Amino acid sequence: MQTHKRPPASLLFIFGGSGDLNYRKLTPALYNLFIDEWIPEKFDIVGIGRSAFTDESYRAKLLDGIQQFSRRKEEQNGKWQEFSRHISYLQMDAENEDEYKKIADIVKTKEQEFGSHPNVIFYMAVAPQLVPDIAKKLGPLNICADTKCTRIVVEKPFGHDLQSAHELNKLLMSMFDEAQIYRIDHYLGKETVQNILALRFANALFEPIWNKNYIDHVQITAAETVGVEGRGGYYETSGALRDMVQNHILQLICMVAMEAPVSFDADEIRNKKVDVLNAIRKITKEDAHIYAVRGQYSEGWITGEKVPGYRQEKSVSPDSNIDTFAAVKFYIDNWRWQDVPFYVRTGKRLHGKTTIITIQFKPAPNYAFPEEASETWRANRLTISIQPEMDIRLRFQAKRPGQSMILNPVDMLFSYKDAYDGNEPEAYETLLLDIMEGNATLFMRSDQVEAAWKIIMPILEAWELRPPVDFPNYAPDSWGPEDAEALIARNGHNWITLPPLHQE
Ligand code: BG6
Repeated sequence: MQTHKRPPASLLFIFGGSGDLNYRKLTPALYNLFIDEWIPEKFDIVGIGRSAFTDESYRAKLLDGIQQFSRRKEEQNGKWQEFSRHISYLQMDAENEDEYKKIADIVKTKEQEFGSHPNVIFYMAVAPQLVPDIAKKLGPLNICADTKCTRIVVEKPFGHDLQSAHELNKLLMSMFDEAQIYRIDHYLGKETVQNILALRFANALFEPIWNKNYIDHVQITAAETVGVEGRGGYYETSGALRDMVQNHILQLICMVAMEAPVSFDADEIRNKKVDVLNAIRKITKEDAHIYAVRGQYSEGWITGEKVPGYRQEKSVSPDSNIDTFAAVKFYIDNWRWQDVPFYVRTGKRLHGKTTIITIQFKPAPNYAFPEEASETWRANRLTISIQPEMDIRLRFQAKRPGQSMILNPVDMLFSYKDAYDGNEPEAYETLLLDIMEGNATLFMRSDQVEAAWKIIMPILEAWELRPPVDFPNYAPDSWGPEDAEALIARNGHNWITLPPLHQE
């Protein structure tokens, strides 16, 4: 029996309706919401694209996507027929302003059918360069003026640099209120990422020691084993720093470093995050080499398979200088974090698919224990594993059973798989539901996006100014270039991968 309140009637237009994002992520997420009875009683989805589809062939394509990519691949249980009746396809040329009347007509028809004015959501699942043009053409439709019910959803990358992000913000805000604009960063929809706030602020245990007095440093690794997966064209305009650090990783830093919010109001949370971004020490162009390292993968082997180097990937220039790996050392200049390094690294074709946040505490004094007891002495460490393992591990010292005082680090584990049924909603389910409900907490505000660009611009500029001389500089199945090790070894640290449980 349904115990929750569903969002109000909604009409969702997906620009890029025949594209990959909708196929792999959006429709599977919407279908899961439907199965879990979160979709509004009255709703419709209109996929918009240039390719020719009938409603029937479009639905068949989407079902195929569900069978491949949904967390409930096998789930048919008769609900698909019911769900798919709400999906239609609108073939239109998004560059032709005259065709936008079709959208206005659909809204009018649905309004009559639903008996009320629905939320009208425009989802931009298109190449980033198309967003400004589509937004401009949506403006005059007269639907957007309704600040309560109309929303526009913009995927990352939000701009290509600070200036283009600023211009895109200006353009969107000339037609929509900030409250109507949902800038997606899908990391914020991940269960394990949202749980960081619960861990920090719903427990008395961590917050008192969550600062420079007890924390030695913080690390974030977001590693992937895949290469650019046919997205060479996009990646050539991006690179790891733009693709992962400007958004996902800086957002993770905000979750770890923000001050306690006084409420879960969308603006309160986002204000606290912007405070973190504003306090991140600006790295100058001249110093970029001290704080940031870039890499690019060569050809090689990964899980027994021969893989091409980045420069041999489709749609990639044979002498490309794009970074497929980036590592940065950040500092946050405020009372809580003064002089605590935040090391981050991300890359393609690395040794494992893993996103983890490590909070490394300072060592406890060990003078009271005999020398042999402290041979395996380790400082406490909290590891938040975002994916693919979803768990939190707290490492502490324990006495090994026996007559002598020998100490060993051991792990206390909270695992989603063991604690729950292991069928957590996907990020896009959470985010799409929030959009329908009008809750912008997990979305990026304009000032957040621009503050994040300001942080990475000097590094990007320094890298553009000085082309790398050693690319490609790391092999597939490694942890990136050697310089990344040196970056943090200078402070006496080394990169931490997810430790096996119960041992060092
Ligand atoms: C996307 C990047 O934002 O995040 C991709 O554009 C990357 O390059 C992806 O592969 C990683 O997402 P996840 O959820 O698999 O960690």
